[in-house]
Amino acid sequence: MAGRNLESLQKRYNKAASADRGGMRGPGGPGRRGPGPGGPRGGGKPKNTKQTIKRLVGYVAKYKFRLMLVGLCMLCSTATSLVGGYILRPVINNAVDTSVSAADRVAYLAQILTILACVYLVGIISNYVQAKIMLSVSQAATEKIRNDLFVGLSKLPVRYFDSNNTGEIMSRFTNDVDNIDMMMNNSLTSLVSGTISLIGTFVFMICTNIWLTLITVAFIPVFLKGGAFIASRNGKYFTGQQAALGAVNGYIEEAVTGQKVVKVFNHEEVCVEEFALLNDDMRDKQFKAQFYGGVMGPILGNIGQIAYATTAGIGGLLCLHAGFDVGGLSIFVNYSRQFSMPINMLTAQTSTIFAALAGAERVFAVMDATPEGADDRLEDKVEVEKIEGHVILEDVSFGYVPEKTVLKNISLYAKPGQKIAFVGSTGAGKTTITNLLNRFYDISSGKITIDGIDLKSFDRDFLRKNIAMVLQDTHLFTGTVMENIRYGRLDATDEEVIAAAKTASAHSFIMRLSDGYNTVLEGDGANLSQGQRQLLNIARAALSKAPILVLDEATSSVDTRTERHIEKGMDRLMQNRTTFVIAHRLSTVRNANAIMVLENGVIIERGDHEDLLNQKGRYYELYTGAVELD
Ligand SMILES: Nc1ncnc2c1ncn2[C@@H]1O[C@H](COP(=O)(O)OP(=O)(O)OP(=O)(O)O)[C@@H](O)[C@H]1O
Ligand SMILES: [Mg+2]
Repeated sequence: MAGRNLESLQKRYNKAASADRGGMRGPGGPGRRGPGPGGPRGGGKPKNTKQTIKRLVGYVAKYKFRLMLVGLCMLCSTATSLVGGYILRPVINNAVDTSVSAADRVAYLAQILTILACVYLVGIISNYVQAKIMLSVSQAATEKIRNDLFVGLSKLPVRYFDSNNTGEIMSRFTNDVDNIDMMMNNSLTSLVSGTISLIGTFVFMICTNIWLTLITVAFIPVFLKGGAFIASRNGKYFTGQQAALGAVNGYIEEAVTGQKVVKVFNHEEVCVEEFALLNDDMRDKQFKAQFYGGVMGPILGNIGQIAYATTAGIGGLLCLHAGFDVGGLSIFVNYSRQFSMPINMLTAQTSTIFAALAGAERVFAVMDATPEGADDRLEDKVEVEKIEGHVILEDVSFGYVPEKTVLKNISLYAKPGQKIAFVGSTGAGKTTITNLLNRFYDISSGKITIDGIDLKSFDRDFLRKNIAMVLQDTHLFTGTVMENIRYGRLDATDEEVIAAAKTASAHSFIMRLSDGYNTVLEGDGANLSQGQRQLLNIARAALSKAPILVLDEATSSVDTRTERHIEKGMDRLMQNRTTFVIAHRLSTVRNANAIMVLENGVIIERGDHEDLLNQKGRYYELYTGAVELD
């Protein structure tokens, strides 16, 4: 770890960088700063823009009525702002008109100001209504997107999670959905209202003075060029900023989850140094990215001032020599300022929109990923009432990836009530066999049957309901001990849960917890010992009435005395069930009906304990410890 330079660090966290993990927010974060500097998070260009837009439209399409109302409110608010501006013309002309008496002028002013107040009130109301309705539409749409995403996620096969890390998947829910939300809420409204206001202002400008309008129009190319320049620079440095941010996030994530290991090996200082390198780089990249958005943007805004001053100067001349009214001039300069605003705003929105579309594409990709069981053939399905537990594997071969076969020609059978054990060195393929039984993965060749029926003919949910498993990695959910055990069978009564806990020898330690069965477990049972966590997982499986039971290193962290206890309890439970046991501690598997010794994905020995000892093969070596002396 020591001595890694920036380049190697970034390479290492490159995946993280491109994944644009959740957690720390991008600088353009969800502070809802609206358009302008900073820009959105989640870089990358969308690939199939048309399709993505179509799909996004689908999410808001059902709110047609509300959207029409929003459009109406936008029209209304733009109109009021234009009309409100126009009303100032007679006000100013009246104020400078010395031919009318002061009292009359004041009376006229009061009258006009009342109208003005009414106009602006209507504007405020329509703005309020528009913002509120639009928010309800965008929130409803993002809620639906999040929901669809979660549903899609829960249907994905285990294989999907092998190749996509948690951070990556998380960022679909955080950054990507946030970007979509931001676009719907901010960019779309400003896009539409900006366009309306642009057209409206243009019309009012022409009505006020055609010559001055021409001057303003002459400045448009300058704005467009400047806007495009900033947008392109923004995009370029934005990608760099995202990559740097990803690397920093990846590093933090690892430092937090691995902080015990960091401390054990005294790596704090190295970590701080490495972090400083990445952080430094992020500052550079952010500086560049923000420079064009945050500094150049306002400078470009000053070009607007030049246009403003030019218009005002020429307008003044028109007033003096061509009979143009002062009121007309003052509203015109206001319009010309309003005119450049949407142009700036629209260019600023482009990057937000692109990022949101790219995010939407990634979100839809998860939704569209092939769900588990997509290639199941419905006509093969059989309806079964009850499973007895007669399991047969015939010549089964399997590899997680096509290039590497993990299990080779595995054949075995287990009758109901039998206990079959798998032993063998680390990485031999023991867990893999159990992964095939409940169809986490499908076999490449051969056949697995339960009660003579091909595994593929069972409904997946039904199959998994009939196989209780204690996985090698324990997992506890946030909730009480009672709830966590009940996960094994949701309709179990409290008494049944307690009985299962007793079977798993978990009862006595649970009773010593502060709140007994009502103690809340957090963070995957962080407040429990490793062995205690295993006991709860066993209790969960003991609660299940499934006829097939799989115990993968279920008691590896439990002391031998407790293990013996569990065995006694489980023996009762296993009487009528087919049980597959995996254990490194061979004392656990001694009483199995058959023990399979796996090596490199092949069963090299099989038989019961006595047979295997007599064979004086690998099992004998493992049992007597001879292998360790090699
Ligand atoms: N999700 C996966 N993707 C790709 N390869 C995997 C995956 N899980 C396991 N493997 C590979 O399959 C082989 C068998 O792994 P398996 O988990 O079945 O071993 P095991 O016998 O249970 O070992 P242990 O005693 O350590 O639990 C290993 O070489 C491993 O690298
Ligand atoms: Mg294993």
